[in-house]
Amino acid sequence: MFVKPIDIHLAWGLFRVMPSVYLDCNATTPLDPRVRQVLLRYLDEEYGNEGSRTHEYGSAAKRAVQQARDQVASVVDCKREEVLFTSGATESNNLAILGLVDFGIANNRRHIVSTMIEHKAVLEPLADLESRGFEVTYVKPQADGIVRAVDVLSALRPDTLLVTVMHVNNETGVIQPVDEIASGMANHLAFLHVDAAQSFGKIAVTLKNQRIDLISVSGHKIYAPKGIGALITRRRGYEKVPLKPLMFGGGQERGIRPGTLPVALIAALGEAAACPILARAGWRRNFGRRLQRRGRVEAQASQAARGRFRAGIVDAEVAFKLRHERSGGGEFGDEGGEEVRGGGAGGGELRFQGVHQGHQLLHFGHDPSLFGEGWQGNRDKHRSSQSQILVADTVRESLRLVIAVR
Ligand SMILES: Cc1ncc(COP(=O)(O)O)c(C=O)c1O
Repeated sequence: MFVKPIDIHLAWGLFRVMPSVYLDCNATTPLDPRVRQVLLRYLDEEYGNEGSRTHEYGSAAKRAVQQARDQVASVVDCKREEVLFTSGATESNNLAILGLVDFGIANNRRHIVSTMIEHKAVLEPLADLESRGFEVTYVKPQADGIVRAVDVLSALRPDTLLVTVMHVNNETGVIQPVDEIASGMANHLAFLHVDAAQSFGKIAVTLKNQRIDLISVSGHKIYAPKGIGALITRRRGYEKVPLKPLMFGGGQERGIRPGTLPVALIAALGEAAACPILARAGWRRNFGRRLQRRGRVEAQASQAARGRFRAGIVDAEVAFKLRHERSGGGEFGDEGGEEVRGGGAGGGELRFQGVHQGHQLLHFGHDPSLFGEGWQGNRDKHRSSQSQILVADTVRESLRLVIAVR
């Protein structure tokens, strides 16, 4: 096959290994080396509590947190005090949705608009609210995986408290029309929450839209560690989003998200948030070539999908979703592994792991038996161009197999 084994010569013999390419960056990313440096510094050397005001360790920690707040804020063009650190996008989504409950009840606004393709970290808190007397309208996407802004806007009612829509879909990579929804809500009081776990730091402009009140951010999707994220709570003029905390404690994060701040994780998130902006200069240099390569992969994807699916690409990352059917012959693994790995029985053939049927794909209006299973890939930004070609080849080859087994 096209993937060449790597021969390792050791004193006691020759070992042949197949290269392994991680393609599941929508699920999580490895640490950026610059982020790792910052993380270790605040774990090992500057380990003060940012709440300790009486000594230099505390002051250093506080400065690190402030810097991280600025770094995160600058990505979405908000003020540092509008950034709340959380454990990740799951917590941010919960806080954004459940934190508005008291305000909704007090103001008799118990209607929420969302979509059928949200992450479970949005759908589950919404389900909880439905069981507590709130009404949720779930807008269906079209066959291309995009929710139409007009459908979201026409679901608005005078008693709508919140509109919560994801920016980039984690299963398909498809970008939702958040800008259009935000402009359409210019004269409506409802709060607008965007789950930006997949887009923060990758799509620059949309999240700067000042009509977006709440933005969920996840660190481990942008080369920071797991367990850290943020909720942006943008003020409208002087008015804060009337969020109530879900936990109570020492008053950190304006009392809305109490608990000793994990300074090392926060500093790492700040560094990761700054990295994409810094990296963009490098991206621009190779943009033409990358675009060509991306175009080729996309064309292959569309061909395989035979027009039934639009491959979605997030910024310069290769993110796409392909359909395929189980070969039944063991060519494609079908259990929850997470990487495309060379190797396997017989040596040399590729085994695909991590194939799954996400709940979101079922809402696209296609006959599920035609759709088969989704295959999602999003490569690591650190991969060398050689391994990018390997990825492109892998995809190309897999498509040939997909087409062959149909
Ligand atoms: C769109 C979306 N929202 C929320 C989450 C949850 O993020 P976290 O892992 O930071 O809790 C994810 C993670 O997969 C996601 O893709």
